[in-house]
Amino acid sequence: MILPLLHMGDPRLHMQADKVCVFNTNELHTLAADMRDTMEEAGGVGLAAPQVGVLLRVIAFGFEAGARDPDMPSIPWTVLINPQLELISHELDEDWEGCLSVPGLRAQVPRYRRLSYSAFDLYGEPINGIAEGFHARVIQHEVDHLDGILYPARIADFSKFGFVNTPEQM
Ligand code: NI
Repeated sequence: MILPLLHMGDPRLHMQADKVCVFNTNELHTLAADMRDTMEEAGGVGLAAPQVGVLLRVIAFGFEAGARDPDMPSIPWTVLINPQLELISHELDEDWEGCLSVPGLRAQVPRYRRLSYSAFDLYGEPINGIAEGFHARVIQHEVDHLDGILYPARIADFSKFGFVNTPEQM
């Protein structure tokens, strides 16, 4: 089911989301399926539960190869619950970001180039991995949503923040 997306300024987008304590419930599976429908309908590459008004630490993402640039690999649809990030290096990349909760705008945002993540899947099984480049960027963007942070708060150079006709959204 496609859910309404909250937009910047809604207080729920600026709150700390709660950890999921009980896994493999109908509610959690439904939330994940609805997040996928909502993200795909909106043409995004990632979504966090607070964006649909659910203040739980659940993020989801996935995109086809070349969605952003020609040599970018595809990332399969992934749901991460209670994700935790660990830096592998302090190297930063600046690249363009948009957000389904900040429609019509985009900005260059610095993000860490590589990180490792640990989380749980919908069944409560642990998931671990390493992400780099655009994949790492999407994960950092979505985890920020769980802490009530939207990407404009991460902008270093406001001359690289503006309106677009076809935003690349996450
Ligand atoms: Ni976003």
